[in-house]
Amino acid sequence: MARIGNQKTTASFMEVHETFADWDQTRSVLRGPVGFVPTMGALHDGHASLIRKAREDMGPDGHVVVSIYVNPTQFNDPEDFEAYPSTREADMAVARDAGADAVVFPDADELYPGGVPEQAEATDYGSLTALWEAAHRPGHFDGVVAVVRRLFSLVRPDHAFFGEKDWQQLAVISELVRREFDRLAIVPVPTVREEDGLAMSSRNVRLSPSDRRYAAVMHGALEAVAESGGDQKVVDEQAARLRSMGWDVEYLAVVDAMTLECEPQGGSRRAIVAAQWGGVRLIDNLPVPI
Ligand code: PAJ
Repeated sequence: MARIGNQKTTASFMEVHETFADWDQTRSVLRGPVGFVPTMGALHDGHASLIRKAREDMGPDGHVVVSIYVNPTQFNDPEDFEAYPSTREADMAVARDAGADAVVFPDADELYPGGVPEQAEATDYGSLTALWEAAHRPGHFDGVVAVVRRLFSLVRPDHAFFGEKDWQQLAVISELVRREFDRLAIVPVPTVREEDGLAMSSRNVRLSPSDRRYAAVMHGALEAVAESGGDQKVVDEQAARLRSMGWDVEYLAVVDAMTLECEPQGGSRRAIVAAQWGGVRLIDNLPVPI
């Protein structure tokens, strides 16, 4: 690792591992804390903010590792999997500039030693794996849990960083960790947005320039719901408004931030939305003030 004095620089040398067997040699000699950022590549500034946060939290003696693997078992739509962008060289530059010490591009064989299954083993975390994204993307969280469980076992991190952009995924992974990885800390990182409010996503590049101009309307609907304090009348109005503009709204709802259920459990609440625009499926969420 390149260091100036005792200070690790963000422009330091970054290791690239093609397998976890290779990464394991590095892992076994590491002494400081290990921060892990799992991704599917096509890295943008949202991913970079996770890596920067990991760099900051792990400190100069810690280690930040990013994995890049497009996980087939979490795509309920094969076309979505086929169309998923792959930008390996640019990804390495983003990871390095954000302060990663290592990037792993694992093989499918290492993540799925018995071969990639058609469907991952089912995960039942109650409402977390039944509602919203789970209902609209059958099998999606089964795939996410399967690959993240395996990644955690191979990387052996002390901290793992996940974006609030995928709020339900964050809740599902927190539950996985609570059940199976009690020494691992999950660190949520706020959503990074484009100037007009559209949450950054690897799928945004699929929007045509004219569709892109209107995509931020979905964020506007969420803001209106959040500003209303989660008023159901405003939720209904905003959903109707999006539909009248041509959005295919899958859900727009105010939910308990932890259970994802509509009935508030007394804790914080979240406004969540999934909708398609120009054939591209977008999701987003915002906190709802008490
Ligand atoms: P991917 O979509 O590549 O996202 C990797 C991480 O980046 C996730 O934790 C996601 O929430 C976060 N992220 C994406 N867009 C963001 C934004 N605009 N602001 C902040 N964080 C953002 O999520 C996955 O991959 C996969 O499901 C994975 C966990 C890697 C398992 O395959």
